[in-house]
Amino acid sequence: MSDKNIVATSDAEIAVHWQEEDYFYPPPSFIHQANLVDETIGDRFSLDKFPEYYKEFAELLTWYKYWDEVLDTSDAPCWKWFRGGKLNASFNCIDRHLTENKNKTAIHFVPELEEERVLHVTYQELFVRVNEFAALLRDTAKLKRGDRVTIHMPMSAELPITMLACARLGIIHSVVFGGFSASACADRIVDSNSRVLITMDAYYRSGKLLDHKAVDDEACVLAEKEGQKVDTLLVWQRYPGRMSTKTSLVGGRDIVVNEELKNYYGARVKPVQMLAEEPLFLMYTSGTTGKPKGAQHGTGGYLAYVTAMSKYIQDIHPEDVYWCMADIGWITGHSFIVYGPLALGASTVIYEGVPTYPDAGRCWRIAQDLDVNIFHTAPTAIRALRKVGPDEPAKYNYHFKHMTTVGEPIEPEVWKWYHKVVGKGKAVIVDTYWQTETGGFLCASLPGMQPMKPGSTGPGVPGIHTIIFDENGNIIPRGSGKAGNICIQNPWPGCFQTIWGNRKRFVDTYFGMYNKNPSSKDWRDWPYLTGDAAMEAADGYIRILGRIDDVINVSGHRLGTKEIESAALTVPEIAEAAVVPVAHEIKGKEPELYVSLKPGFDPSPELQKKVADAVVTQIGKIARCKNVWIVPDMPKTRSGKIMRRVLGAISNRGDVGNVMTLANPEIVDQIKDMVS
Ligand code: WT7
Repeated sequence: MSDKNIVATSDAEIAVHWQEEDYFYPPPSFIHQANLVDETIGDRFSLDKFPEYYKEFAELLTWYKYWDEVLDTSDAPCWKWFRGGKLNASFNCIDRHLTENKNKTAIHFVPELEEERVLHVTYQELFVRVNEFAALLRDTAKLKRGDRVTIHMPMSAELPITMLACARLGIIHSVVFGGFSASACADRIVDSNSRVLITMDAYYRSGKLLDHKAVDDEACVLAEKEGQKVDTLLVWQRYPGRMSTKTSLVGGRDIVVNEELKNYYGARVKPVQMLAEEPLFLMYTSGTTGKPKGAQHGTGGYLAYVTAMSKYIQDIHPEDVYWCMADIGWITGHSFIVYGPLALGASTVIYEGVPTYPDAGRCWRIAQDLDVNIFHTAPTAIRALRKVGPDEPAKYNYHFKHMTTVGEPIEPEVWKWYHKVVGKGKAVIVDTYWQTETGGFLCASLPGMQPMKPGSTGPGVPGIHTIIFDENGNIIPRGSGKAGNICIQNPWPGCFQTIWGNRKRFVDTYFGMYNKNPSSKDWRDWPYLTGDAAMEAADGYIRILGRIDDVINVSGHRLGTKEIESAALTVPEIAEAAVVPVAHEIKGKEPELYVSLKPGFDPSPELQKKVADAVVTQIGKIARCKNVWIVPDMPKTRSGKIMRRVLGAISNRGDVGNVMTLANPEIVDQIKDMVS
């Protein structure tokens, strides 16, 4: 295959391509105990049996009332799964485990400071704490079914407690990643119309206690300026009984949760019987425009899907200790720290801090001490751990049976270190490909049934029927060596229901390219566009090449180029901004920013710093740019479009190709000189 065959643009164009590697087979010890070793699975989940096969997933849950219809397509493409069914997510993650497992640990919370020791929350205690906090949400914060609430909290046991208390009452939670800035948080408060914000006073990061409440004070001010007043700010204490923030409480707005909870000790709140199709949460993610979109996930479909994925792909058994090192503020944490594992009654680990704090052995010490046997993380963390402590895992006595990688392609070399050193050659690895929007996995190898292939994700998981189209909608056959746009032929229960408040954007973005009949109620007419370029090998394994849209994947997290550019444009001197992804050893990709100035202004290091800081202030540290280049002009087409492709090639020291058709070809060499 030559790189020229790839239809993808931007990210994919500069993606590193590697040779296909050999297969690795799951060890017999894993196969013997695997939850899924059923040779008929392919047949049972074949497309002609859609959508009935998804009943099997829903049956993993406890329902107040069974559904009337598995899939209701009447409002295509806003699918309604398990229509008419009634359930509660909090009940499924807590109450139903009490009869047999109330003394079992639901959550192991690992504080960053080792001397603080681990906190173990049993299912019974989770039940008590979720009930009390739900009573507070209902009676103090006056929240009810269907209201939205924004949660801006660090990794803590209180975060899932907060989410599950919302779910108990049918309140739609919108968790914003704790590391996001006040401004990013404010945008999400405004878009979801949250009048209540929930935060924590402080948390540890690299040994420092960060004042988090200060960020949310500012978020409240910014949100109000944009038209959404936060009338109640609920503040959890990192250390119950004392405040760990320098900010003072705002009278009439701020409520210290740990104090207020004293009024609710012993309170019990009956779970609200939610319709399967009612929303459970919003999760904001980046897209092509500057405005993040709120992916709306439903209750029954989402929970059924993540529970099934946790059981069959994560292979979680009741006695397992499962550690997903993602942040709960991203979809991976929602699905695979909170909802999936808890719905199965497993023990889930929540680690507060940095994987390498205070030293490169920390993760493996946690694994050893808690006897973790399922481990889930992203290539960016694997690369970092390999760099700082390639020999550390061998020093610790832990045994993983199963490991996951997610979020971006993993280089075979890094995969092999993960397998041999972290997994000690005895764990299966699943490379799971999916998205915020998809709720759970799209592709993965079946850990007990299929071999692993370093650098590739697997075929579609049971029930997911992938298809790769070229730009004109022709199917690209497997094994052809050609890349195209990977789509999913069928709806599935984990898929988000719409973009909060913007159905048109939902339909256009995810279905616009290949739907030919917008009024069709037949699901076959609505293939789901993932926005990734991919190639399917002859064996059905899929290699993800990168985004086809304006999204940069930094450390496995999505950043919209428009978001970064809009942040740069808040600096008054800046006329134009263009951001491109640059390859990075640990993060995978890193944004690099080019800006041009308005007339009358001169470049200076101060101005470069001002722009760099504006991006961090507007979005957060994860968007920090490698460089800010102030250029005399942007390379442009004759119609005035900025040629990001050319800038990307310059940043990555690649071939800029033929630039003679540009309106200003001479600028290319000027920028090259500046950057090299
Ligand atoms: C984008 C989704 C839900 C996972 C966390 C990120 C890329 C995701 C893989 C993988 C190659 C991957 C895709 C996708 N991606 N998993 N296993 N191999 N690429 O969720 O922030 O919504 O980003 O991450 O480009 O579209 P997200």
